[in-house]
Amino acid sequence: MKYIDLRSDTVTMPTPQMRKAMSEALVGDDVYQDDPTVKELETLAAHVTGHPAGLFVASGTMGNQLAIMTHTRRGDEIITGANYHIVAHEVGAAAVLSNVSIRTIHNDNDFIYPKDIKSAVRSIDIHNPRTSLLSLENALSNGTIMPIELMRENIELAHSLGLNVHLDGARVFNAAVTLNCDVKTLTAPFDSVMFCLSKGLCSPIGSMLVGSKDFIEKARKNRKLLGGGMRQAGILAAAGLISIHDMTKRLAEDHHHAQKLALALTEIKEVEVYDKLRDINMVFFKLHVETAERLVEFALAHGCKINPPSDEVFRVVTHNDISSADVDAFIEIIRKFVKENPRAN
Ligand SMILES: Cc1ncc(COP(=O)(O)O)c(C=O)c1O
Repeated sequence: MKYIDLRSDTVTMPTPQMRKAMSEALVGDDVYQDDPTVKELETLAAHVTGHPAGLFVASGTMGNQLAIMTHTRRGDEIITGANYHIVAHEVGAAAVLSNVSIRTIHNDNDFIYPKDIKSAVRSIDIHNPRTSLLSLENALSNGTIMPIELMRENIELAHSLGLNVHLDGARVFNAAVTLNCDVKTLTAPFDSVMFCLSKGLCSPIGSMLVGSKDFIEKARKNRKLLGGGMRQAGILAAAGLISIHDMTKRLAEDHHHAQKLALALTEIKEVEVYDKLRDINMVFFKLHVETAERLVEFALAHGCKINPPSDEVFRVVTHNDISSADVDAFIEIIRKFVKENPRAN
Protein backbone atom coordinates (compact mmCIF):
# COMPACT_ATOMS: atom_id res chain seq x y z
CA MET A 1 0.00 0.00 0.00
CA LYS A 2 1.27 3.48 -0.84
CA TYR A 3 1.05 5.76 2.20
CA ILE A 4 0.91 9.54 2.27
CA ASP A 5 4.02 9.99 4.38
CA LEU A 6 4.14 13.33 6.21
CA ARG A 7 6.59 12.28 8.94
CA SER A 8 9.58 14.10 7.43
CA ASP A 9 11.21 15.13 4.16
CA THR A 10 13.83 12.44 4.88
CA VAL A 11 11.35 9.87 3.54
CA THR A 12 11.59 11.20 -0.04
CA MET A 13 12.40 8.60 -2.68
CA PRO A 14 15.16 9.14 -5.23
CA THR A 15 13.58 10.34 -8.49
CA PRO A 16 13.64 8.26 -11.73
CA GLN A 17 16.30 10.71 -13.10
CA MET A 18 18.43 10.02 -10.04
CA ARG A 19 18.16 6.27 -10.43
CA LYS A 20 19.20 6.58 -14.10
CA ALA A 21 22.13 8.90 -13.31
CA MET A 22 23.23 6.57 -10.51
CA SER A 23 23.28 3.57 -12.80
CA GLU A 24 25.37 5.43 -15.39
CA ALA A 25 27.73 7.34 -13.05
CA LEU A 26 31.45 7.41 -13.72
CA VAL A 27 33.13 6.21 -10.52
CA GLY A 28 36.54 5.63 -8.95
CA ASP A 29 38.05 5.08 -5.52
CA ASP A 30 37.25 8.28 -3.65
CA VAL A 31 39.77 7.63 -0.86
CA TYR A 32 42.39 8.00 -3.63
CA GLN A 33 40.30 11.01 -4.76
CA ASP A 34 39.80 9.16 -8.03
CA ASP A 35 36.03 9.49 -8.30
CA PRO A 36 35.13 12.10 -10.96
CA THR A 37 31.46 12.29 -9.95
CA VAL A 38 32.25 12.90 -6.28
CA LYS A 39 34.76 15.57 -7.34
CA GLU A 40 32.14 17.23 -9.53
CA LEU A 41 29.64 17.21 -6.65
CA GLU A 42 32.15 18.64 -4.16
CA THR A 43 33.11 21.40 -6.60
CA LEU A 44 29.47 22.22 -7.29
CA ALA A 45 28.52 22.27 -3.59
CA ALA A 46 31.41 24.62 -2.83
CA HIS A 47 30.53 26.86 -5.78
CA VAL A 48 26.82 27.25 -5.00
CA THR A 49 27.47 27.99 -1.32
CA GLY A 50 30.33 30.45 -1.94
CA HIS A 51 33.13 28.40 -0.36
CA PRO A 52 36.48 27.25 -1.78
CA ALA A 53 36.07 23.50 -1.10
CA GLY A 54 33.55 20.77 -0.36
CA LEU A 55 33.41 17.26 1.07
CA PHE A 56 30.79 14.57 0.45
CA VAL A 57 29.75 12.90 3.72
CA ALA A 58 27.37 10.12 4.65
CA SER A 59 24.85 12.17 6.64
CA GLY A 60 24.01 15.52 8.12
CA THR A 61 25.10 14.29 11.52
CA MET A 62 28.48 13.28 10.14
CA GLY A 63 28.90 16.69 8.45
CA ASN A 64 28.03 18.61 11.61
CA GLN A 65 30.23 16.47 13.83
CA LEU A 66 33.16 16.66 11.40
CA ALA A 67 32.81 20.44 11.51
CA ILE A 68 32.99 20.41 15.31
CA MET A 69 35.92 18.00 15.29
CA THR A 70 37.81 20.06 12.72
CA HIS A 71 37.18 23.50 14.26
CA THR A 72 37.90 22.58 17.89
CA ARG A 73 40.53 21.12 20.22
CA ARG A 74 39.86 18.61 23.00
CA GLY A 75 38.46 20.43 26.06
CA ASP A 76 37.03 23.41 24.14
CA GLU A 77 33.50 24.66 24.61
CA ILE A 78 31.11 25.42 21.77
CA ILE A 79 27.95 27.54 21.74
CA THR A 80 24.73 26.45 20.11
CA GLY A 81 20.94 26.56 20.55
CA ALA A 82 19.42 24.27 23.17
CA ASN A 83 17.07 22.72 20.60
CA TYR A 84 19.46 22.66 17.65
CA HIS A 85 20.00 19.29 16.02
CA ILE A 86 23.71 19.26 16.89
CA VAL A 87 22.94 19.01 20.60
CA ALA A 88 19.38 17.65 20.67
CA HIS A 89 19.54 14.80 18.14
CA GLU A 90 23.15 13.75 17.53
CA VAL A 91 23.57 11.25 20.36
CA GLY A 92 25.90 13.48 22.36
CA ALA A 93 28.46 13.02 19.59
CA ALA A 94 30.31 16.29 20.25
CA ALA A 95 31.34 14.98 23.70
CA VAL A 96 32.18 11.49 22.45
CA LEU A 97 34.01 12.34 19.24
CA SER A 98 35.50 15.78 19.86
CA ASN A 99 35.68 15.90 23.67
CA VAL A 100 34.09 19.34 23.75
CA SER A 101 31.44 20.68 26.07
CA ILE A 102 28.42 22.60 24.80
CA ARG A 103 27.02 25.82 26.19
CA THR A 104 23.40 26.00 25.06
CA ILE A 105 21.31 29.12 24.49
CA HIS A 106 17.61 28.94 25.14
CA ASN A 107 15.15 31.43 23.69
CA ASP A 108 11.47 30.64 23.07
CA ASN A 109 11.84 31.15 19.32
CA ASP A 110 15.10 29.14 19.21
CA PHE A 111 17.02 32.09 17.73
CA ILE A 112 20.42 33.13 19.07
CA TYR A 113 21.11 36.86 19.57
CA PRO A 114 24.38 38.79 19.96
CA LYS A 115 23.64 39.33 23.67
CA ASP A 116 23.48 35.53 24.12
CA ILE A 117 26.85 35.09 22.45
CA LYS A 118 28.40 37.86 24.54
CA SER A 119 27.30 36.24 27.77
CA ALA A 120 28.12 32.67 26.68
CA VAL A 121 31.68 33.22 25.45
CA ARG A 122 34.15 32.37 28.22
CA SER A 123 36.68 34.93 29.33
CA ILE A 124 40.34 33.97 29.41
CA ASP A 125 40.67 32.58 32.92
CA ILE A 126 42.45 29.60 34.43
CA HIS A 127 39.06 28.09 35.34
CA ASN A 128 37.48 28.37 31.90
CA PRO A 129 37.54 26.21 28.81
CA ARG A 130 38.32 27.95 25.52
CA THR A 131 35.21 28.88 23.51
CA SER A 132 36.10 28.11 19.92
CA LEU A 133 32.93 27.64 17.91
CA LEU A 134 29.43 29.03 17.47
CA SER A 135 27.05 26.72 15.61
CA LEU A 136 23.86 28.15 14.11
CA GLU A 137 20.98 26.40 12.35
CA ASN A 138 19.03 27.78 9.33
CA ALA A 139 16.31 26.92 8.52
CA LEU A 140 15.61 25.88 12.10
CA SER A 141 14.08 22.53 12.97
CA ASN A 142 11.10 24.43 14.41
CA GLY A 143 10.09 25.47 10.89
CA THR A 144 11.35 29.06 11.07
CA ILE A 145 14.18 31.03 9.48
CA MET A 146 16.71 33.18 11.29
CA PRO A 147 16.65 36.62 9.57
CA ILE A 148 19.73 37.37 7.44
CA GLU A 149 20.59 40.50 9.42
CA LEU A 150 20.54 38.67 12.76
CA MET A 151 22.62 35.85 11.31
CA ARG A 152 25.20 38.38 10.04
CA GLU A 153 25.34 40.22 13.38
CA ASN A 154 25.92 36.92 15.19
CA ILE A 155 28.68 35.89 12.80
CA GLU A 156 30.41 39.26 12.97
CA LEU A 157 30.36 39.27 16.75
CA ALA A 158 31.60 35.68 17.00
CA HIS A 159 34.45 36.43 14.59
CA SER A 160 35.41 39.52 16.57
CA LEU A 161 35.65 37.29 19.67
CA GLY A 162 37.90 34.81 17.85
CA LEU A 163 35.31 32.07 17.28
CA ASN A 164 34.68 30.12 14.09
CA VAL A 165 31.05 29.85 13.02
CA HIS A 166 29.43 26.74 11.57
CA LEU A 167 26.00 26.51 9.95
CA ASP A 168 23.84 23.42 10.24
CA GLY A 169 22.10 24.15 6.97
CA ALA A 170 20.31 20.82 6.62
CA ARG A 171 17.45 22.79 5.02
CA VAL A 172 19.30 25.96 3.97
CA PHE A 173 17.92 25.73 0.41
CA ASN A 174 14.40 25.85 1.89
CA ALA A 175 15.41 29.00 3.76
CA ALA A 176 16.79 30.55 0.55
CA VAL A 177 13.54 29.84 -1.29
CA THR A 178 11.43 31.55 1.39
CA LEU A 179 13.79 34.53 1.63
CA ASN A 180 13.93 34.66 -2.18
CA CYS A 181 17.71 34.95 -2.14
CA ASP A 182 20.67 33.09 -3.59
CA VAL A 183 21.67 30.38 -1.10
CA LYS A 184 25.18 31.94 -1.06
CA THR A 185 23.75 34.93 0.79
CA LEU A 186 22.98 32.58 3.67
CA THR A 187 26.01 30.30 3.47
CA ALA A 188 29.04 32.33 2.34
CA PRO A 189 29.52 34.30 5.62
CA PHE A 190 30.13 31.10 7.62
CA ASP A 191 33.45 29.32 8.18
CA SER A 192 31.77 26.01 7.40
CA VAL A 193 28.36 24.85 6.29
CA MET A 194 26.68 21.46 6.23
CA PHE A 195 23.67 20.95 4.00
CA CYS A 196 21.68 17.78 3.31
CA LEU A 197 21.06 16.21 -0.07
CA SER A 198 18.85 13.51 1.40
CA LYS A 199 15.95 15.53 2.80
CA GLY A 200 13.81 17.77 0.58
CA LEU A 201 16.43 17.39 -2.16
CA CYS A 202 15.55 13.68 -2.51
CA SER A 203 18.97 12.00 -2.72
CA PRO A 204 18.98 8.57 -1.09
CA ILE A 205 22.13 9.27 0.96
CA GLY A 206 24.50 12.12 1.66
CA SER A 207 25.25 15.61 2.88
CA MET A 208 27.87 18.19 1.97
CA LEU A 209 30.36 19.98 4.19
CA VAL A 210 31.91 23.12 2.72
CA GLY A 211 34.57 25.56 3.93
CA SER A 212 38.11 26.74 3.21
CA LYS A 213 40.57 24.43 1.41
CA ASP A 214 42.55 23.95 4.61
CA PHE A 215 39.42 23.20 6.66
CA ILE A 216 38.16 20.64 4.14
CA GLU A 217 41.57 18.95 3.91
CA LYS A 218 41.53 18.46 7.70
CA ALA A 219 37.88 17.39 7.63
CA ARG A 220 38.71 14.82 4.92
CA LYS A 221 41.27 13.27 7.24
CA ASN A 222 38.80 13.34 10.14
CA ARG A 223 36.18 11.71 7.91
CA LYS A 224 38.67 8.88 7.30
CA LEU A 225 39.27 8.63 11.06
CA LEU A 226 35.53 8.07 11.54
CA GLY A 227 35.46 5.36 8.88
CA GLY A 228 33.69 7.68 6.48
CA GLY A 229 36.15 7.39 3.59
CA MET A 230 34.05 6.00 0.74
CA ARG A 231 35.14 4.15 -2.37
CA GLN A 232 33.02 4.24 -5.56
CA ALA A 233 30.77 6.89 -4.00
CA GLY A 234 30.10 8.50 -7.39
CA ILE A 235 27.00 6.31 -7.55
CA LEU A 236 25.60 8.41 -4.71
CA ALA A 237 27.15 11.69 -5.85
CA ALA A 238 25.32 11.32 -9.19
CA ALA A 239 22.04 11.71 -7.29
CA GLY A 240 23.52 14.60 -5.30
CA LEU A 241 24.25 16.53 -8.51
CA ILE A 242 20.58 16.26 -9.48
CA SER A 243 19.62 17.38 -5.96
CA ILE A 244 21.60 20.60 -6.33
CA HIS A 245 20.92 21.29 -10.03
CA ASP A 246 17.23 20.39 -10.16
CA MET A 247 15.60 19.61 -6.82
CA THR A 248 16.53 22.94 -5.23
CA LYS A 249 14.37 24.58 -7.93
CA ARG A 250 11.15 22.83 -6.88
CA LEU A 251 11.18 23.39 -3.09
CA ALA A 252 8.71 26.27 -3.46
CA GLU A 253 6.07 23.68 -4.34
CA ASP A 254 6.58 21.96 -0.96
CA HIS A 255 6.26 25.32 0.80
CA HIS A 256 3.10 26.04 -1.17
CA HIS A 257 1.62 22.70 -0.08
CA ALA A 258 2.52 23.44 3.55
CA GLN A 259 0.81 26.84 3.31
CA LYS A 260 -2.28 25.27 1.76
CA LEU A 261 -2.42 22.66 4.52
CA ALA A 262 -1.94 25.24 7.27
CA LEU A 263 -4.68 27.49 5.89
CA ALA A 264 -7.15 24.61 5.62
CA LEU A 265 -6.37 23.42 9.16
CA THR A 266 -6.87 26.95 10.48
CA GLU A 267 -10.51 26.69 9.37
CA ILE A 268 -11.14 23.68 11.62
CA LYS A 269 -12.03 25.04 15.05
CA GLU A 270 -10.49 22.15 17.00
CA VAL A 271 -7.10 22.72 15.33
CA GLU A 272 -4.60 25.30 16.55
CA VAL A 273 -2.01 25.99 13.86
CA TYR A 274 1.29 27.53 14.98
CA ASP A 275 1.35 30.43 12.53
CA LYS A 276 4.78 31.67 13.55
CA LEU A 277 6.36 28.33 12.58
CA ARG A 278 5.38 28.34 8.93
CA ASP A 279 8.45 29.56 7.04
CA ILE A 280 9.31 26.35 5.19
CA ASN A 281 7.80 22.93 4.39
CA MET A 282 6.57 22.21 7.91
CA VAL A 283 3.24 22.70 9.67
CA PHE A 284 2.95 22.50 13.45
CA PHE A 285 -0.46 22.13 15.09
CA LYS A 286 -2.28 21.09 18.23
CA LEU A 287 -5.61 19.26 18.30
CA HIS A 288 -8.05 20.37 20.98
CA VAL A 289 -9.89 17.07 21.19
CA GLU A 290 -9.72 14.33 23.81
CA THR A 291 -7.00 11.72 23.13
CA ALA A 292 -5.47 13.79 20.33
CA GLU A 293 -2.50 11.42 20.17
CA ARG A 294 -4.82 8.78 18.68
CA LEU A 295 -4.57 10.76 15.46
CA VAL A 296 -1.40 8.80 14.62
CA GLU A 297 -3.17 5.42 14.41
CA PHE A 298 -6.31 6.98 12.92
CA ALA A 299 -4.27 8.57 10.13
CA LEU A 300 -2.40 5.32 9.53
CA ALA A 301 -5.68 3.42 9.19
CA HIS A 302 -6.65 6.02 6.57
CA GLY A 303 -3.39 5.64 4.61
CA CYS A 304 -1.33 8.44 6.09
CA LYS A 305 1.83 8.30 8.23
CA ILE A 306 2.55 11.03 10.78
CA ASN A 307 4.83 11.15 13.80
CA PRO A 308 3.45 11.18 17.37
CA PRO A 309 3.15 14.67 18.84
CA SER A 310 5.96 16.19 20.87
CA ASP A 311 4.57 18.07 23.90
CA GLU A 312 1.14 17.67 22.27
CA VAL A 313 2.30 19.44 19.11
CA PHE A 314 2.15 17.57 15.79
CA ARG A 315 4.62 18.35 13.02
CA VAL A 316 3.89 17.38 9.43
CA VAL A 317 6.32 17.91 6.57
CA THR A 318 5.60 18.30 2.85
CA HIS A 319 8.04 17.13 0.18
CA ASN A 320 8.48 15.86 -3.39
CA ASP A 321 6.36 12.75 -2.80
CA ILE A 322 3.40 14.74 -1.42
CA SER A 323 0.98 16.05 -4.04
CA SER A 324 -1.74 18.64 -3.69
CA ALA A 325 -4.27 15.76 -3.66
CA ASP A 326 -2.34 14.16 -0.77
CA VAL A 327 -2.66 17.41 1.17
CA ASP A 328 -6.43 17.39 0.50
CA ALA A 329 -6.63 13.79 1.69
CA PHE A 330 -4.84 14.63 4.94
CA ILE A 331 -7.15 17.59 5.57
CA GLU A 332 -10.11 15.23 5.17
CA ILE A 333 -8.53 12.80 7.67
CA ILE A 334 -8.24 15.58 10.25
CA ARG A 335 -11.83 16.71 9.61
CA LYS A 336 -13.08 13.14 10.10
CA PHE A 337 -10.96 12.65 13.23
CA VAL A 338 -12.20 15.79 14.99
CA LYS A 339 -15.79 14.91 14.06
CA GLU A 340 -15.45 11.51 15.71
CA ASN A 341 -13.61 12.78 18.80
CA PRO A 342 -15.17 15.03 21.41
CA ARG A 343 -13.67 18.47 21.92
CA ALA A 344 -11.46 18.76 24.99
CA ASN A 345 -12.53 21.29 27.62
C1 LIG B 1 18.51 20.56 11.27
C2 LIG B 1 19.10 19.20 11.05
N1 LIG B 1 20.43 19.04 11.12
C3 LIG B 1 21.02 17.86 10.93
C4 LIG B 1 20.28 16.73 10.64
C5 LIG B 1 21.00 15.41 10.52
O1 LIG B 1 20.88 14.81 9.28
P1 LIG B 1 21.04 13.22 9.15
O2 LIG B 1 19.73 12.64 9.55
O3 LIG B 1 21.35 13.04 7.68
O4 LIG B 1 22.15 12.78 10.01
C6 LIG B 1 18.89 16.84 10.55
C7 LIG B 1 18.07 15.65 10.28
O5 LIG B 1 16.86 15.64 10.27
C8 LIG B 1 18.27 18.10 10.77
O6 LIG B 1 16.95 18.26 10.72
